[in-house]
Amino acid sequence: MKDLSMDVDALDAEAERILRMNDRGGYSVPTAGLYPYQWNWDSAFAAYGYAMFDLDRGWRELEVLMAGQWPDGMVPHIQFHKVDPSYFPGPDIWGGVGPVPSSGISQPAIAATMARLVYELDPHAGAERMRALYPKFIAWHRWFMDWRLDRDAVCLTHPWEAGRDNAPDWDGPLARIDPSGIAPYERRDTGHVDPSMRPKKADYDRYLWLVKQGHDCGWDQAHLREVNPFRMADPTMHFTLLRAHRDLMWLGEALGLDTSPLPDWIAQLEAGAETLWNARLGAYDCRDTVTGDWADAVSNAAFLCWYAGVDPKTTAQAYARVQSKVQFGVASHDPESPAFEPKRYWRGPTWAMMNMLIAMGLDDAGRPEGAELRASTARLIAGNGFAEYFDPLTGAPAGGKDFTWTAAIWLGWASPKARRGRWAA
Ligand code: GLC
Repeated sequence: MKDLSMDVDALDAEAERILRMNDRGGYSVPTAGLYPYQWNWDSAFAAYGYAMFDLDRGWRELEVLMAGQWPDGMVPHIQFHKVDPSYFPGPDIWGGVGPVPSSGISQPAIAATMARLVYELDPHAGAERMRALYPKFIAWHRWFMDWRLDRDAVCLTHPWEAGRDNAPDWDGPLARIDPSGIAPYERRDTGHVDPSMRPKKADYDRYLWLVKQGHDCGWDQAHLREVNPFRMADPTMHFTLLRAHRDLMWLGEALGLDTSPLPDWIAQLEAGAETLWNARLGAYDCRDTVTGDWADAVSNAAFLCWYAGVDPKTTAQAYARVQSKVQFGVASHDPESPAFEPKRYWRGPTWAMMNMLIAMGLDDAGRPEGAELRASTARLIAGNGFAEYFDPLTGAPAGGKDFTWTAAIWLGWASPKARRGRWAA
């Protein structure tokens, strides 16, 4: 473990090099090889990272992301700008129906929040670009409100939609799916990184079954709402959208734009957060909307409540408990749970960009844990590089290397020299 005081300038330069290297001209890939396309929330973080050294490039990332919006308002989780055979499942399997070949699901609504941070770096320079993006964000947020609510809590319809692909939260509902009928396939992810860090085959079969179901329905949301057996109300989707509504409201007011739907949407999601409170667990939790069952697990998404500005109830106690069990960042799954696996993707590892969102909320709430989380994430990256994610017990890097969002949040948040947004002024 190297000492952080070592060379902040070198780390800043390395982060910038990674962003430039992963730039494909207007959009960025999360990392070459493993993820060769544009991912939705990755791009939102990337925009903020680019804006630290090239404001125009930051805006461009958001513009290209939103240009892939479907006619119904959905912004897909992957846009396949240039087909690359090293990734599976590709555009033919998804059969997206937007202006750019794409997947058929979305991802957490981070983009409006990152747009606000980019805008605030230079409101004058960003005003026209933000005005042009604003109605697209409204349409995307409206799509979530129209199609993804259950008792006013925001749901995902595929494990990849929450961005927490193989979290133990999905084990129950996935087990109910019989994946027979999917065509034989060859995974590509396990050719890029150690299979012990990736989702298992049983999970993958079910991910593909859900993709096939969506494709077969032409991604018709009304139809899918009737037939899809996987519909989880989830703190990731919920808290990110609530925060994004608030940031969009702020932007709309700053620019004199029509904010009329936002107050109701905000009130609705504030009320809906109550339906995600698992009192037995003492934390916000995922709720299976088909069975009513809780996931009964403290994930890092539970700690986004401060980011969303909702009543944290006893979340601070849960936070203190899980933090006392790890050395670095926030574990993606409760370290005391039997399902905890420190190196397997979303079943335990710590993710730098989730840490940033959690810390933004803690800072907003005036809690000291935000600064601590930033310091521990900075140590993690300084000592272990710009990995996709990390073992929270040892800090060991895992998954893909030279990762865009890790570099971006370094530049915009974790670096001691970061020009952080207003939440941490
Ligand atoms: C994985 C992650 C997801 C991310 C994508 C690209 O699928 O689980 O959150 O957006 O990789 O980095």
